Amino acid sequence: MVLFTVTRKETAPIQGQKPGTSGLRKKVTVFKQPNYLHNFVQATFNALSPDKVRGATIVVSGDGRYFSEEAIQIIIKMAAANGVKGVWVGQNGLLSTPAVSAVIRERVGKDGSKAAGGFILTASHNPGGPHEDFGIKYNMENGGPAPEGITDKIYANTTTINEYFIAEDLPDVDISSIGITSFGGPDGSFDVDVFDATDDYVKLMKSIFDFEIIKKLLASPKFSFCYDALHGVAGIYAKRIFLEELGASGSSLINCTPKEDFGGGHPDPNLTYAKELVARLGLGKSSPEGEPPEFGAAADGDADRNMILGKRFFVTPSDSVAIIAANAVKAIPYFNSGLKGVARSMPTSAALDVVAKNLNLKFFEVPTGWKFFGNLMDAGVCSVCGEESFGTGSDHIREKDGIWAVLAWLSILAYRNKDNVDGDKLVTVQDIVEEHWATYGRHYYTRYDYENVDASAAKELMAALVKLQSSLSAVNEIIKGIRSDVAEVVEADEFEYKDPVDGSVSKHQGIRYLFGDGSRLVFRLSGTGSEGATIRLYIEQYEKDPSKTGRDSQDALAPLVDVALKLSKMEEFTGRSAPTVIT
Ligand SMILES: *[C@@H]1O[C@H](CO)[C@@H](O)[C@H](O)[C@H]1NC(C)=O
Ligand SMILES: *[C@@H]1O[C@H](CO)[C@@H](O)[C@H](O)[C@H]1NC(C)=O
Repeated sequence: MVLFTVTRKETAPIQGQKPGTSGLRKKVTVFKQPNYLHNFVQATFNALSPDKVRGATIVVSGDGRYFSEEAIQIIIKMAAANGVKGVWVGQNGLLSTPAVSAVIRERVGKDGSKAAGGFILTASHNPGGPHEDFGIKYNMENGGPAPEGITDKIYANTTTINEYFIAEDLPDVDISSIGITSFGGPDGSFDVDVFDATDDYVKLMKSIFDFEIIKKLLASPKFSFCYDALHGVAGIYAKRIFLEELGASGSSLINCTPKEDFGGGHPDPNLTYAKELVARLGLGKSSPEGEPPEFGAAADGDADRNMILGKRFFVTPSDSVAIIAANAVKAIPYFNSGLKGVARSMPTSAALDVVAKNLNLKFFEVPTGWKFFGNLMDAGVCSVCGEESFGTGSDHIREKDGIWAVLAWLSILAYRNKDNVDGDKLVTVQDIVEEHWATYGRHYYTRYDYENVDASAAKELMAALVKLQSSLSAVNEIIKGIRSDVAEVVEADEFEYKDPVDGSVSKHQGIRYLFGDGSRLVFRLSGTGSEGATIRLYIEQYEKDPSKTGRDSQDALAPLVDVALKLSKMEEFTGRSAPTVIT
Protein backbone atom coordinates (compact mmCIF):
# COMPACT_ATOMS: atom_id res chain seq x y z
CA MET A 1 0.00 0.00 0.00
CA VAL A 2 1.25 3.46 -0.90
CA LEU A 3 1.78 5.65 2.17
CA PHE A 4 1.28 9.39 2.17
CA THR A 5 2.12 12.28 4.49
CA VAL A 6 0.23 15.47 5.24
CA THR A 7 1.75 18.82 4.34
CA ARG A 8 0.59 22.09 5.85
CA LYS A 9 0.80 24.90 3.31
CA GLU A 10 0.64 28.57 4.04
CA THR A 11 -1.85 30.60 2.07
CA ALA A 12 -3.64 33.94 2.18
CA PRO A 13 -7.26 34.91 1.54
CA ILE A 14 -8.30 35.50 -2.07
CA GLN A 15 -11.12 37.94 -2.66
CA GLY A 16 -14.42 37.06 -4.28
CA GLN A 17 -14.94 33.46 -3.12
CA LYS A 18 -18.55 33.99 -2.08
CA PRO A 19 -20.60 31.06 -3.32
CA GLY A 20 -23.98 31.89 -4.88
CA THR A 21 -27.03 29.64 -4.66
CA SER A 22 -25.33 27.24 -7.07
CA GLY A 23 -21.83 27.34 -5.66
CA LEU A 24 -18.73 29.24 -6.71
CA ARG A 25 -18.60 29.94 -10.47
CA LYS A 26 -15.67 31.72 -12.10
CA LYS A 27 -13.59 31.62 -15.24
CA VAL A 28 -11.15 28.72 -15.46
CA THR A 29 -8.33 31.29 -15.51
CA VAL A 30 -9.46 32.45 -12.07
CA PHE A 31 -9.69 28.90 -10.72
CA LYS A 32 -6.17 28.16 -12.00
CA GLN A 33 -4.59 30.91 -9.90
CA PRO A 34 -2.26 29.48 -7.25
CA ASN A 35 -4.23 28.31 -4.18
CA TYR A 36 -7.61 29.47 -5.54
CA LEU A 37 -9.26 26.04 -5.56
CA HIS A 38 -7.24 24.93 -2.53
CA ASN A 39 -8.47 27.83 -0.41
CA PHE A 40 -12.10 27.18 -1.28
CA VAL A 41 -11.88 23.44 -0.66
CA GLN A 42 -10.09 23.92 2.68
CA ALA A 43 -12.64 26.58 3.69
CA THR A 44 -15.39 24.09 2.92
CA PHE A 45 -13.77 21.41 5.09
CA ASN A 46 -13.33 24.04 7.82
CA ALA A 47 -16.98 25.09 7.62
CA LEU A 48 -18.42 21.57 7.85
CA SER A 49 -18.83 19.92 11.20
CA PRO A 50 -15.69 17.81 11.86
CA ASP A 51 -17.59 14.49 11.89
CA LYS A 52 -18.66 15.16 8.27
CA VAL A 53 -14.98 15.35 7.30
CA ARG A 54 -12.76 13.26 9.60
CA GLY A 55 -13.45 9.58 9.01
CA ALA A 56 -16.23 10.43 6.55
CA THR A 57 -16.78 9.48 2.92
CA ILE A 58 -17.37 12.19 0.30
CA VAL A 59 -18.26 12.22 -3.38
CA VAL A 60 -16.26 14.26 -5.93
CA SER A 61 -17.37 14.48 -9.58
CA GLY A 62 -19.05 16.71 -12.10
CA ASP A 63 -20.13 17.44 -15.64
CA GLY A 64 -16.65 16.80 -17.10
CA ARG A 65 -15.96 20.38 -18.13
CA TYR A 66 -12.41 21.64 -18.72
CA PHE A 67 -10.25 21.66 -15.52
CA SER A 68 -12.38 18.95 -13.83
CA GLU A 69 -9.72 16.24 -13.85
CA GLU A 70 -7.08 18.52 -12.37
CA ALA A 71 -9.55 19.73 -9.75
CA ILE A 72 -10.55 16.18 -8.80
CA GLN A 73 -6.93 15.17 -8.17
CA ILE A 74 -6.40 18.25 -5.97
CA ILE A 75 -9.58 17.59 -3.99
CA ILE A 76 -8.64 13.93 -3.47
CA LYS A 77 -5.24 14.94 -2.05
CA MET A 78 -6.79 17.59 0.19
CA ALA A 79 -9.50 15.21 1.38
CA ALA A 80 -6.84 12.67 2.35
CA ALA A 81 -4.90 15.33 4.25
CA ASN A 82 -8.02 16.49 6.10
CA GLY A 83 -8.75 13.03 7.49
CA VAL A 84 -11.47 11.99 5.04
CA LYS A 85 -11.64 8.18 4.95
CA GLY A 86 -12.95 7.63 1.45
CA VAL A 87 -13.59 9.57 -1.76
CA TRP A 88 -16.09 8.29 -4.31
CA VAL A 89 -15.50 9.35 -7.91
CA GLY A 90 -17.73 8.59 -10.88
CA GLN A 91 -15.76 6.93 -13.68
CA ASN A 92 -13.83 9.59 -15.64
CA GLY A 93 -14.85 12.09 -12.97
CA LEU A 94 -18.36 12.24 -14.38
CA LEU A 95 -21.62 12.39 -12.44
CA SER A 96 -24.61 14.54 -13.32
CA THR A 97 -25.79 16.88 -10.57
CA PRO A 98 -28.93 14.75 -9.98
CA ALA A 99 -26.76 11.62 -9.94
CA VAL A 100 -24.52 13.11 -7.22
CA SER A 101 -27.67 13.75 -5.20
CA ALA A 102 -28.79 10.16 -5.81
CA VAL A 103 -25.35 8.72 -4.96
CA ILE A 104 -25.18 10.67 -1.68
CA ARG A 105 -28.67 9.48 -0.70
CA GLU A 106 -28.59 5.90 -1.96
CA ARG A 107 -25.12 4.45 -2.56
CA VAL A 108 -23.60 2.11 -0.02
CA GLY A 109 -19.84 1.55 -0.16
CA LYS A 110 -18.08 -1.83 0.03
CA ASP A 111 -17.62 -1.39 3.78
CA GLY A 112 -21.28 -0.43 4.29
CA SER A 113 -20.50 3.28 4.49
CA LYS A 114 -22.64 6.08 3.08
CA ALA A 115 -21.46 9.49 1.89
CA ALA A 116 -21.61 12.54 4.15
CA GLY A 117 -21.79 14.91 1.19
CA GLY A 118 -19.99 15.78 -1.99
CA PHE A 119 -18.31 18.32 -4.22
CA ILE A 120 -20.04 18.86 -7.58
CA LEU A 121 -17.80 20.34 -10.26
CA THR A 122 -19.99 22.20 -12.71
CA ALA A 123 -21.00 25.62 -13.93
CA SER A 124 -24.33 24.21 -15.09
CA HIS A 125 -25.40 25.68 -18.45
CA ASN A 126 -22.40 28.02 -18.79
CA PRO A 127 -19.89 27.22 -21.56
CA GLY A 128 -16.71 25.28 -20.75
CA GLY A 129 -13.09 25.43 -21.94
CA PRO A 130 -9.80 27.13 -21.01
CA HIS A 131 -11.36 30.60 -21.29
CA GLU A 132 -14.84 29.70 -20.08
CA ASP A 133 -16.41 28.81 -16.75
CA PHE A 134 -15.69 26.33 -14.00
CA GLY A 135 -17.67 25.87 -10.82
CA ILE A 136 -17.73 23.99 -7.53
CA LYS A 137 -20.47 23.46 -4.99
CA TYR A 138 -20.97 21.31 -1.94
CA ASN A 139 -24.01 19.13 -1.32
CA MET A 140 -24.95 17.83 2.11
CA GLU A 141 -26.01 14.48 3.51
CA ASN A 142 -29.60 14.84 2.22
CA GLY A 143 -28.21 15.18 -1.32
CA GLY A 144 -29.16 18.85 -1.57
CA PRO A 145 -27.01 21.98 -1.91
CA ALA A 146 -25.40 23.33 1.27
CA PRO A 147 -27.81 25.71 3.02
CA GLU A 148 -26.97 29.39 3.35
CA GLY A 149 -25.73 28.89 6.92
CA ILE A 150 -22.95 26.67 5.56
CA THR A 151 -22.15 28.70 2.44
CA ASP A 152 -21.88 31.84 4.61
CA LYS A 153 -19.43 29.99 6.85
CA ILE A 154 -17.41 28.81 3.85
CA TYR A 155 -17.19 32.36 2.57
CA ALA A 156 -16.25 33.75 6.00
CA ASN A 157 -13.50 31.18 6.18
CA THR A 158 -12.09 32.12 2.77
CA THR A 159 -11.63 35.68 4.06
CA THR A 160 -9.30 34.68 6.91
CA ILE A 161 -7.74 31.44 5.67
CA ASN A 162 -3.99 31.16 6.24
CA GLU A 163 -3.29 27.45 5.79
CA TYR A 164 -4.46 24.36 3.98
CA PHE A 165 -3.60 20.67 4.14
CA ILE A 166 -2.66 18.46 1.25
CA ALA A 167 -1.18 15.01 0.69
CA GLU A 168 1.39 16.16 -1.86
CA ASP A 169 3.01 12.76 -2.15
CA LEU A 170 -0.26 10.94 -2.87
CA PRO A 171 0.02 9.81 -6.49
CA ASP A 172 -2.68 10.84 -8.95
CA VAL A 173 -5.45 8.25 -9.02
CA ASP A 174 -6.50 6.72 -12.34
CA ILE A 175 -10.13 7.84 -12.47
CA SER A 176 -10.76 6.21 -15.82
CA SER A 177 -10.86 2.67 -14.40
CA ILE A 178 -13.42 1.32 -11.97
CA GLY A 179 -11.99 0.01 -8.72
CA ILE A 180 -10.83 0.92 -5.23
CA THR A 181 -7.30 2.20 -4.61
CA SER A 182 -6.19 2.18 -0.97
CA PHE A 183 -3.53 4.39 0.57
CA GLY A 184 -2.12 4.58 4.08
CA GLY A 185 -1.96 7.90 5.91
CA PRO A 186 -1.41 9.20 9.42
CA ASP A 187 -5.09 8.54 10.30
CA GLY A 188 -5.21 5.04 8.84
CA SER A 189 -6.37 3.93 5.42
CA PHE A 190 -7.72 6.22 2.73
CA ASP A 191 -9.69 4.76 -0.19
CA VAL A 192 -10.51 6.22 -3.57
CA ASP A 193 -13.47 4.31 -5.03
CA VAL A 194 -13.99 4.89 -8.76
CA PHE A 195 -17.43 3.52 -9.67
CA ASP A 196 -19.80 3.32 -12.62
CA ALA A 197 -21.31 6.79 -13.00
CA THR A 198 -24.71 5.52 -14.11
CA ASP A 199 -25.49 2.42 -11.98
CA ASP A 200 -26.93 4.07 -8.87
CA TYR A 201 -28.93 6.61 -10.85
CA VAL A 202 -30.37 3.98 -13.18
CA LYS A 203 -31.36 1.81 -10.23
CA LEU A 204 -33.20 4.78 -8.73
CA MET A 205 -34.99 5.58 -12.01
CA LYS A 206 -36.07 1.94 -12.31
CA SER A 207 -37.61 2.13 -8.85
CA ILE A 208 -39.64 5.20 -9.90
CA PHE A 209 -40.80 4.47 -13.45
CA ASP A 210 -42.26 1.46 -15.24
CA PHE A 211 -39.49 0.81 -17.77
CA GLU A 212 -41.49 -1.97 -19.46
CA ILE A 213 -44.35 0.30 -20.52
CA ILE A 214 -41.91 2.94 -21.80
CA LYS A 215 -40.05 0.25 -23.71
CA LYS A 216 -43.27 -0.70 -25.50
CA LEU A 217 -43.86 2.90 -26.48
CA LEU A 218 -40.32 3.25 -27.87
CA ALA A 219 -40.76 0.03 -29.81
CA SER A 220 -43.89 1.31 -31.56
CA PRO A 221 -43.25 2.09 -35.23
CA LYS A 222 -45.46 5.16 -34.76
CA PHE A 223 -43.20 6.61 -32.09
CA SER A 224 -39.87 8.34 -32.52
CA PHE A 225 -37.87 10.64 -30.33
CA CYS A 226 -34.71 12.68 -30.20
CA TYR A 227 -32.62 13.47 -27.13
CA ASP A 228 -29.93 16.17 -27.19
CA ALA A 229 -27.40 16.22 -24.33
CA LEU A 230 -25.64 19.29 -25.81
CA HIS A 231 -22.30 17.47 -25.22
CA GLY A 232 -22.92 17.51 -21.48
CA VAL A 233 -22.84 14.74 -18.92
CA ALA A 234 -26.48 13.77 -19.62
CA GLY A 235 -25.13 11.84 -22.61
CA ILE A 236 -23.80 8.95 -20.51
CA TYR A 237 -27.18 8.55 -18.78
CA ALA A 238 -29.06 8.88 -22.07
CA LYS A 239 -26.98 6.10 -23.66
CA ARG A 240 -27.46 3.79 -20.72
CA ILE A 241 -31.16 4.47 -20.13
CA PHE A 242 -32.63 5.18 -23.55
CA LEU A 243 -30.46 2.80 -25.57
CA GLU A 244 -29.47 -0.04 -23.26
CA GLU A 245 -32.42 -0.17 -20.89
CA LEU A 246 -35.26 1.05 -23.09
CA GLY A 247 -34.10 -0.18 -26.49
CA ALA A 248 -34.21 3.12 -28.39
CA SER A 249 -32.15 3.31 -31.56
CA GLY A 250 -28.79 5.09 -31.55
CA SER A 251 -30.07 7.65 -34.01
CA SER A 252 -32.41 8.95 -31.25
CA LEU A 253 -29.46 10.52 -29.44
CA ILE A 254 -27.53 13.57 -30.54
CA ASN A 255 -24.51 15.25 -28.89
CA CYS A 256 -24.41 12.49 -26.26
CA THR A 257 -20.64 12.19 -25.86
CA PRO A 258 -19.52 14.54 -23.06
CA LYS A 259 -16.91 17.07 -24.13
CA GLU A 260 -14.89 19.33 -21.87
CA ASP A 261 -15.87 22.37 -23.95
CA PHE A 262 -19.41 21.18 -24.84
CA GLY A 263 -18.41 21.29 -28.48
CA GLY A 264 -17.86 25.03 -28.17
CA GLY A 265 -21.56 25.69 -27.49
CA HIS A 266 -23.75 26.79 -24.61
CA PRO A 267 -25.04 23.65 -22.92
CA ASP A 268 -28.36 25.37 -22.24
CA PRO A 269 -31.57 23.57 -23.14
CA ASN A 270 -33.63 26.41 -24.54
CA LEU A 271 -34.99 27.28 -27.96
CA THR A 272 -31.89 29.36 -28.77
CA TYR A 273 -29.13 26.96 -27.82
CA ALA A 274 -30.61 23.53 -28.50
CA LYS A 275 -30.53 24.47 -32.20
CA GLU A 276 -30.06 21.03 -33.69
CA LEU A 277 -32.89 19.52 -31.64
CA VAL A 278 -35.19 22.46 -32.31
CA ALA A 279 -34.57 22.08 -36.05
CA ARG A 280 -35.20 18.33 -35.98
CA LEU A 281 -38.50 18.80 -34.18
CA GLY A 282 -39.67 21.14 -36.89
CA LEU A 283 -39.46 24.29 -34.76
CA GLY A 284 -36.55 25.87 -36.61
CA LYS A 285 -36.68 28.52 -39.30
CA SER A 286 -36.30 26.02 -42.14
CA SER A 287 -38.30 22.82 -42.36
CA PRO A 288 -36.46 19.66 -41.29
CA GLU A 289 -35.48 16.80 -43.56
CA GLY A 290 -38.28 14.28 -43.31
CA GLU A 291 -40.99 13.98 -40.69
CA PRO A 292 -39.97 15.32 -37.23
CA PRO A 293 -39.97 12.89 -34.29
CA GLU A 294 -42.98 12.76 -31.95
CA PHE A 295 -40.97 13.73 -28.89
CA GLY A 296 -37.81 15.70 -28.22
CA ALA A 297 -35.87 16.71 -25.14
CA ALA A 298 -32.60 18.37 -24.17
CA ALA A 299 -30.45 18.75 -21.06
CA ASP A 300 -27.94 21.29 -19.80
CA GLY A 301 -24.26 20.61 -19.03
CA ASP A 302 -24.81 18.92 -15.67
CA ALA A 303 -28.16 17.37 -16.66
CA ASP A 304 -30.34 18.97 -14.02
CA ARG A 305 -32.39 21.03 -16.47
CA ASN A 306 -34.63 19.87 -19.29
CA MET A 307 -36.56 21.15 -22.26
CA ILE A 308 -39.54 19.16 -23.55
CA LEU A 309 -40.74 19.35 -27.15
CA GLY A 310 -43.38 17.65 -29.24
CA LYS A 311 -43.51 17.53 -33.00
CA ARG A 312 -43.48 21.23 -34.03
CA PHE A 313 -44.51 22.01 -30.47
CA PHE A 314 -42.80 23.64 -27.47
CA VAL A 315 -43.94 22.76 -23.95
CA THR A 316 -43.29 25.63 -21.56
CA PRO A 317 -41.54 24.55 -18.36
CA SER A 318 -44.49 25.97 -16.40
CA ASP A 319 -46.94 23.76 -18.30
CA SER A 320 -44.58 20.79 -18.09
CA VAL A 321 -44.58 20.64 -14.28
CA ALA A 322 -48.35 21.15 -14.15
CA ILE A 323 -48.93 18.32 -16.64
CA ILE A 324 -46.54 15.97 -14.84
CA ALA A 325 -48.35 16.71 -11.55
CA ALA A 326 -51.78 16.16 -13.12
CA ASN A 327 -50.78 12.77 -14.56
CA ALA A 328 -48.26 11.50 -12.02
CA VAL A 329 -50.46 9.27 -9.89
CA LYS A 330 -51.70 7.21 -12.82
CA ALA A 331 -48.66 7.25 -15.07
CA ILE A 332 -45.72 6.97 -12.64
CA PRO A 333 -45.56 4.04 -10.19
CA TYR A 334 -43.52 6.03 -7.61
CA PHE A 335 -46.54 8.33 -7.15
CA ASN A 336 -49.26 5.64 -7.26
CA SER A 337 -50.30 6.25 -3.66
CA GLY A 338 -50.74 9.99 -4.24
CA LEU A 339 -48.78 13.23 -4.21
CA LYS A 340 -47.74 14.73 -0.87
CA GLY A 341 -47.96 18.20 -2.35
CA VAL A 342 -46.62 20.30 -5.22
CA ALA A 343 -44.55 23.48 -5.45
CA ARG A 344 -43.36 26.02 -7.97
CA SER A 345 -41.04 29.01 -7.90
CA MET A 346 -42.83 32.36 -7.74
CA PRO A 347 -42.20 33.47 -11.36
CA THR A 348 -43.35 30.11 -12.75
CA SER A 349 -46.88 30.30 -14.17
CA ALA A 350 -49.88 29.42 -12.05
CA ALA A 351 -50.74 26.38 -14.21
CA LEU A 352 -49.60 24.19 -11.32
CA ASP A 353 -51.83 26.10 -8.87
CA VAL A 354 -54.92 25.18 -10.89
CA VAL A 355 -53.94 21.50 -10.88
CA ALA A 356 -53.31 21.59 -7.13
CA LYS A 357 -56.68 23.19 -6.51
CA ASN A 358 -58.54 20.71 -8.72
CA LEU A 359 -56.82 17.69 -7.23
CA ASN A 360 -56.93 19.06 -3.70
CA LEU A 361 -53.16 18.97 -3.22
CA LYS A 362 -50.98 20.91 -0.80
CA PHE A 363 -49.44 23.75 -2.76
CA PHE A 364 -46.41 26.00 -2.18
CA GLU A 365 -45.13 29.07 -4.01
CA VAL A 366 -41.45 29.56 -3.13
CA PRO A 367 -38.63 31.95 -4.06
CA THR A 368 -36.27 30.99 -6.87
CA GLY A 369 -33.64 28.48 -5.66
CA TRP A 370 -33.93 24.71 -5.38
CA LYS A 371 -33.19 24.64 -1.63
CA PHE A 372 -36.71 25.88 -0.91
CA PHE A 373 -38.14 22.80 -2.60
CA GLY A 374 -35.61 20.62 -0.76
CA ASN A 375 -36.85 21.83 2.63
CA LEU A 376 -40.46 21.01 1.72
CA MET A 377 -39.39 17.58 0.50
CA ASP A 378 -37.38 16.84 3.64
CA ALA A 379 -40.54 17.75 5.59
CA GLY A 380 -42.58 15.32 3.49
CA VAL A 381 -45.00 17.86 2.00
CA CYS A 382 -43.84 18.09 -1.61
CA SER A 383 -43.61 15.39 -4.28
CA VAL A 384 -43.34 17.32 -7.56
CA CYS A 385 -41.96 20.79 -8.25
CA GLY A 386 -40.71 23.01 -11.03
CA GLU A 387 -39.34 26.33 -12.22
CA GLU A 388 -39.94 28.38 -15.38
CA SER A 389 -36.19 28.25 -16.00
CA PHE A 390 -36.31 24.66 -17.29
CA GLY A 391 -36.00 22.91 -13.91
CA THR A 392 -38.35 20.09 -12.92
CA GLY A 393 -38.03 17.50 -10.21
CA SER A 394 -39.41 15.37 -7.42
CA ASP A 395 -38.60 14.20 -3.93
CA HIS A 396 -36.59 11.19 -5.16
CA ILE A 397 -33.51 13.47 -4.79
CA ARG A 398 -32.77 17.05 -3.72
CA GLU A 399 -31.79 18.56 -7.08
CA LYS A 400 -33.74 19.21 -10.25
CA ASP A 401 -33.46 16.27 -12.59
CA GLY A 402 -33.38 16.53 -16.37
CA ILE A 403 -33.49 12.83 -17.23
CA TRP A 404 -36.23 12.25 -14.66
CA ALA A 405 -38.39 14.87 -16.40
CA VAL A 406 -37.92 13.11 -19.73
CA LEU A 407 -38.83 9.75 -18.20
CA ALA A 408 -41.89 11.38 -16.61
CA TRP A 409 -43.04 12.61 -20.04
CA LEU A 410 -42.29 9.26 -21.67
CA SER A 411 -44.33 7.61 -18.89
CA ILE A 412 -47.29 9.90 -19.53
CA LEU A 413 -47.07 9.22 -23.27
CA ALA A 414 -46.73 5.48 -22.64
CA TYR A 415 -49.65 5.44 -20.23
CA ARG A 416 -51.90 7.39 -22.60
CA ASN A 417 -51.01 5.04 -25.44
CA LYS A 418 -50.87 1.79 -23.54
CA ASP A 419 -53.88 0.22 -25.25
CA ASN A 420 -52.99 1.74 -28.56
CA VAL A 421 -49.22 1.51 -29.14
CA ASP A 422 -49.76 -0.40 -32.34
CA GLY A 423 -52.79 1.63 -33.42
CA ASP A 424 -52.98 4.05 -36.32
CA LYS A 425 -52.32 7.22 -34.42
CA LEU A 426 -50.65 7.79 -31.09
CA VAL A 427 -51.70 10.38 -28.55
CA THR A 428 -49.04 13.08 -29.02
CA VAL A 429 -47.31 15.59 -26.76
CA GLN A 430 -49.45 18.30 -28.33
CA ASP A 431 -52.66 16.30 -27.66
CA ILE A 432 -51.71 15.91 -24.01
CA VAL A 433 -50.94 19.61 -23.57
CA GLU A 434 -54.11 20.72 -25.38
CA GLU A 435 -56.28 18.37 -23.35
CA HIS A 436 -54.66 19.77 -20.24
CA TRP A 437 -55.55 23.31 -21.32
CA ALA A 438 -59.12 22.24 -22.07
CA THR A 439 -59.45 20.79 -18.57
CA TYR A 440 -57.57 23.33 -16.47
CA GLY A 441 -57.40 26.40 -18.68
CA ARG A 442 -54.26 27.76 -20.30
CA HIS A 443 -51.66 30.12 -18.87
CA TYR A 444 -50.27 31.98 -21.86
CA TYR A 445 -46.79 32.87 -20.72
CA THR A 446 -43.77 34.86 -21.77
CA ARG A 447 -40.63 36.25 -20.18
CA TYR A 448 -38.89 39.46 -21.24
CA ASP A 449 -35.28 39.91 -20.12
CA TYR A 450 -33.66 43.33 -20.17
CA GLU A 451 -29.97 42.60 -19.72
CA ASN A 452 -27.23 45.01 -18.76
CA VAL A 453 -29.58 47.82 -17.83
CA ASP A 454 -28.10 50.75 -15.89
CA ALA A 455 -28.34 49.51 -12.29
CA SER A 456 -29.68 52.71 -10.76
CA ALA A 457 -32.32 53.08 -13.48
CA ALA A 458 -33.40 49.50 -12.83
CA LYS A 459 -33.68 50.16 -9.11
CA GLU A 460 -35.76 53.27 -9.75
CA LEU A 461 -38.11 51.34 -12.01
CA MET A 462 -38.62 48.69 -9.34
CA ALA A 463 -39.10 51.30 -6.60
CA ALA A 464 -41.75 53.06 -8.69
CA LEU A 465 -43.61 49.76 -9.14
CA VAL A 466 -43.58 49.14 -5.40
CA LYS A 467 -44.81 52.66 -4.72
CA LEU A 468 -47.71 52.17 -7.13
CA GLN A 469 -48.85 49.18 -5.09
CA SER A 470 -50.01 51.34 -2.21
CA SER A 471 -53.23 52.18 -4.08
CA LEU A 472 -54.91 49.49 -6.15
CA SER A 473 -57.60 51.87 -7.34
CA ALA A 474 -54.92 54.21 -8.70
CA VAL A 475 -53.23 51.25 -10.42
CA ASN A 476 -56.51 50.16 -11.98
CA GLU A 477 -57.16 53.72 -13.14
CA ILE A 478 -53.78 53.73 -14.93
CA ILE A 479 -54.40 50.29 -16.44
CA LYS A 480 -57.83 51.32 -17.74
CA GLY A 481 -56.12 54.20 -19.50
CA ILE A 482 -53.75 51.75 -21.20
CA ARG A 483 -56.14 48.92 -22.18
CA SER A 484 -59.81 48.31 -21.57
CA ASP A 485 -59.53 44.58 -22.28
CA VAL A 486 -57.58 43.40 -19.24
CA ALA A 487 -59.01 42.40 -15.86
CA GLU A 488 -58.62 44.45 -12.66
CA VAL A 489 -55.64 44.08 -10.38
CA VAL A 490 -56.94 42.55 -7.15
CA GLU A 491 -53.70 42.14 -5.26
CA ALA A 492 -50.23 43.62 -5.53
CA ASP A 493 -47.20 42.99 -3.35
CA GLU A 494 -43.51 42.30 -3.10
CA PHE A 495 -43.18 38.55 -2.74
CA GLU A 496 -41.92 37.44 0.63
CA TYR A 497 -41.60 33.84 1.79
CA LYS A 498 -41.44 32.37 5.23
CA ASP A 499 -40.03 28.88 4.96
CA PRO A 500 -42.50 26.65 6.82
CA VAL A 501 -39.70 24.22 7.63
CA ASP A 502 -36.77 26.29 8.91
CA GLY A 503 -38.65 29.53 9.58
CA SER A 504 -36.24 31.60 7.48
CA VAL A 505 -37.73 34.66 5.78
CA SER A 506 -36.79 35.68 2.23
CA LYS A 507 -37.79 39.24 1.35
CA HIS A 508 -37.87 41.28 -1.86
CA GLN A 509 -38.27 38.23 -4.10
CA GLY A 510 -40.06 40.11 -6.87
CA ILE A 511 -42.94 42.46 -7.50
CA ARG A 512 -46.31 40.88 -8.24
CA TYR A 513 -49.47 42.26 -9.77
CA LEU A 514 -52.29 39.71 -9.56
CA PHE A 515 -55.38 40.16 -11.74
CA GLY A 516 -58.95 39.11 -10.97
CA ASP A 517 -59.03 36.60 -13.84
CA GLY A 518 -55.97 34.69 -12.60
CA SER A 519 -53.47 36.53 -14.81
CA ARG A 520 -50.21 37.91 -13.36
CA LEU A 521 -47.38 40.32 -13.96
CA VAL A 522 -44.11 39.74 -12.14
CA PHE A 523 -41.00 41.95 -12.15
CA ARG A 524 -37.67 40.79 -10.81
CA LEU A 525 -34.27 42.38 -10.61
CA SER A 526 -30.97 40.51 -10.61
CA GLY A 527 -27.27 41.25 -10.69
CA THR A 528 -27.09 44.87 -9.61
CA GLY A 529 -23.29 44.72 -9.74
CA SER A 530 -20.85 46.79 -11.75
CA GLU A 531 -21.87 45.16 -15.02
CA GLY A 532 -25.41 46.49 -14.87
CA ALA A 533 -28.65 44.85 -13.85
CA THR A 534 -31.09 42.45 -15.48
CA ILE A 535 -34.80 43.14 -15.26
CA ARG A 536 -36.97 40.11 -15.84
CA LEU A 537 -40.60 40.62 -16.66
CA TYR A 538 -42.93 37.62 -16.52
CA ILE A 539 -46.27 38.02 -18.23
CA GLU A 540 -49.03 35.48 -17.78
CA GLN A 541 -52.57 35.56 -19.17
CA TYR A 542 -54.97 32.95 -17.84
CA GLU A 543 -57.68 31.71 -20.21
CA LYS A 544 -60.32 29.38 -18.80
CA ASP A 545 -62.62 29.19 -21.81
CA PRO A 546 -61.69 25.96 -23.68
CA SER A 547 -62.70 27.55 -26.98
CA LYS A 548 -59.96 30.17 -26.51
CA THR A 549 -57.01 28.07 -25.32
CA GLY A 550 -55.70 27.45 -28.83
CA ARG A 551 -54.87 31.05 -29.70
CA ASP A 552 -51.51 32.31 -30.87
CA SER A 553 -49.58 32.98 -27.69
CA GLN A 554 -48.32 36.42 -28.74
CA ASP A 555 -51.82 37.58 -29.64
CA ALA A 556 -53.26 36.34 -26.39
CA LEU A 557 -50.54 38.10 -24.39
CA ALA A 558 -50.51 41.39 -26.32
CA PRO A 559 -52.86 43.38 -24.02
CA LEU A 560 -51.00 42.38 -20.86
CA VAL A 561 -47.61 43.05 -22.46
CA ASP A 562 -48.82 46.51 -23.31
CA VAL A 563 -49.94 47.07 -19.73
CA ALA A 564 -46.68 45.72 -18.30
CA LEU A 565 -44.46 47.98 -20.41
CA LYS A 566 -46.50 51.12 -19.87
CA LEU A 567 -47.28 50.58 -16.20
CA SER A 568 -43.58 50.06 -15.45
CA LYS A 569 -42.51 52.88 -17.82
CA MET A 570 -39.91 50.44 -19.08
CA GLU A 571 -38.64 52.55 -21.94
CA GLU A 572 -38.68 55.76 -19.93
CA PHE A 573 -36.54 54.28 -17.14
CA THR A 574 -34.22 52.03 -19.11
CA GLY A 575 -34.09 53.63 -22.55
CA ARG A 576 -34.87 50.22 -24.03
CA SER A 577 -37.61 49.94 -26.61
CA ALA A 578 -37.30 46.15 -26.69
CA PRO A 579 -36.06 43.39 -24.39
CA THR A 580 -32.70 41.67 -24.93
CA VAL A 581 -34.40 38.26 -25.06
CA ILE A 582 -37.96 37.04 -25.21
CA THR A 583 -38.59 33.48 -24.02
C1 LIG B 1 -11.79 28.99 9.42
O1 LIG B 1 -11.45 27.67 9.79
C2 LIG B 1 -10.36 27.55 10.68
C3 LIG B 1 -10.04 26.07 10.86
O2 LIG B 1 -11.15 25.37 11.32
C4 LIG B 1 -10.70 28.23 11.98
O3 LIG B 1 -9.59 28.16 12.85
C5 LIG B 1 -11.06 29.68 11.70
O4 LIG B 1 -11.48 30.29 12.89
C6 LIG B 1 -12.16 29.76 10.65
N1 LIG B 1 -12.38 31.15 10.33
C7 LIG B 1 -13.60 31.70 10.22
C8 LIG B 1 -13.66 33.17 9.93
O5 LIG B 1 -14.61 31.03 10.34
C1 LIG C 1 -31.09 30.65 -23.66
O1 LIG C 1 -30.16 30.70 -22.59
C2 LIG C 1 -29.20 31.72 -22.63
C3 LIG C 1 -28.37 31.67 -21.35
O2 LIG C 1 -27.53 30.60 -21.32
C4 LIG C 1 -29.82 33.07 -22.75
O3 LIG C 1 -28.80 34.05 -22.93
C5 LIG C 1 -30.78 33.08 -23.90
O4 LIG C 1 -31.40 34.30 -23.90
C6 LIG C 1 -31.80 31.96 -23.74
N1 LIG C 1 -32.73 32.01 -24.83
C7 LIG C 1 -34.02 31.84 -24.66
C8 LIG C 1 -34.89 31.91 -25.86
O5 LIG C 1 -34.49 31.63 -23.56
